Amino acid sequence: MRDITETLLDWYDIHAREMPWRVMPAMRKAGHLPDPYAVWLSEVMLQQTTVAAVRAYHTRFMALWPTVSALAAAKDADVMAAWAGLGYYARARNLLKCARAVVADHGGAFPQTYDALIGLPGIGPYTAAAISAIAFDKASTVLDGNVERVMSRLYNDHTPLPAAKPLLMEFAKRHTSQVRPGDYAQAVMDLGATICTPKNPACGICPVRSACKAHEAGKQGNLPKKTPK
Ligand code: ADE
Repeated sequence: MRDITETLLDWYDIHAREMPWRVMPAMRKAGHLPDPYAVWLSEVMLQQTTVAAVRAYHTRFMALWPTVSALAAAKDADVMAAWAGLGYYARARNLLKCARAVVADHGGAFPQTYDALIGLPGIGPYTAAAISAIAFDKASTVLDGNVERVMSRLYNDHTPLPAAKPLLMEFAKRHTSQVRPGDYAQAVMDLGATICTPKNPACGICPVRSACKAHEAGKQGNLPKKTPK
């Protein structure tokens, strides 16, 4: 059986979704990495908002403030106004704090490692891993809701969330690509968003169906399990 990591990367080479902040796989293979500022901005915006809604906001922010230094120098009120409509306004306040910390403490360049990134305002474990993998090709493991769902199904793990998180992180680490970590992180997220969806997953076209224990057991629709509120 082919390795899950390689299978997902091959799938991503063909099916990667185009996003304004994303460098597509062919370009990454040619050595191009995305602007860390654009990646950070996208990940903060995507924390509680869909890709469809984020697109226009991201493009507008990049036009108004093309660099982290420009954003750091912006007026608070201008940034809050540009954020209007995205919701969860604490994110916008942390965005400014983080931009100013990158300028004040890191010379205007985003730090590259998970450990340095996680010290910044508004950057938690998921965002630190996403930036280090996507913008710097570090082999960090991203675990968001998409990846949790994909892993719980691949391993047919019925432990309820949030208790299942450490185990799902172990599974996710096992498959993290050491060769193309940035593409891999985005491949699992795209799989979760487009095929391994919460309802009616498209198992018929899933590239890793033959490795999926939940599919084998017919349990994919029941996973991940959640602790009842
Ligand atoms: N959701 C959040 N970040 C994402 C990314 N980089 N690619 C795809 N979906 C995402």
